[in-house]
Amino acid sequence: MAYLKYIPINFILHVFYLIFVFSAHGSTAELKRLLQPAKPDGTVSFLVIGDWGRGGSYNQSTVAFQMGEVGEKLNIDFVISTGDNFYDNGLLGLDDPAFQDSFTNIYNASSLQKPWYTVLGNHDYRGDVEAQLSPMLRALDNRWVCMRSFVVNAEIVEFLFIDTTPFVDKYFVQPNKHVYDWRGVLPRQRYLNNLLK
Ligand SMILES: *[C@@H]1O[C@H](CO)[C@@H](O)[C@H](O)[C@H]1NC(C)=O
Ligand SMILES: *[C@@H]1O[C@H](CO)[C@@H](O)[C@H](O)[C@H]1NC(C)=O
Repeated sequence: MAYLKYIPINFILHVFYLIFVFSAHGSTAELKRLLQPAKPDGTVSFLVIGDWGRGGSYNQSTVAFQMGEVGEKLNIDFVISTGDNFYDNGLLGLDDPAFQDSFTNIYNASSLQKPWYTVLGNHDYRGDVEAQLSPMLRALDNRWVCMRSFVVNAEIVEFLFIDTTPFVDKYFVQPNKHVYDWRGVLPRQRYLNNLLK
């Protein structure tokens, strides 16, 4: 009898231990790593842009056109977006037409049809953050690679993307009229600690 009782307890402890090990492992910041092949000659070229999603206005379309020209000359491999992708308040959801009106239909030059490695800015946090991070957007435009924090390994260089908006105290203690979508960030201290590990 004692023996029969002992086995299930041991088993339960063992399962508990495994869960603990997995969750302890999961709490350290293991950033996702993406491989971006360099050119055959070993070089890499790219454009960097931030603060752009304006539905084409504020000269966004003009800049997009010039990016297309420069992108062609440099034969770019990818684009980096540093955040504030959609003004004024991020995307409202997966079906927000701003995704097409500020991204797909604006950066339409053939040289810009490359991966866009993208992080979030504070304006993006004022919308539906999960929508902007959703892989579903890649189904709408396969250039879109948006994550909170990740690494792009471009063979001769590595790019480290860190989501720094949750580091800014003001957005938490003094958000004024803004509403931030902190899903995936709270509890904040744990999020920051994990990221900094
Ligand atoms: C677009 O750029 C032109 C030329 O620099 C400038 O005069 C104009 O004010 C800009 N338009 C907007 C809406 O920012
Ligand atoms: C991109 O879109 C603009 C505005 O709709 C259009 O004038 C232009 O011809 C398009 N360029 C390409 C390469 O499709």
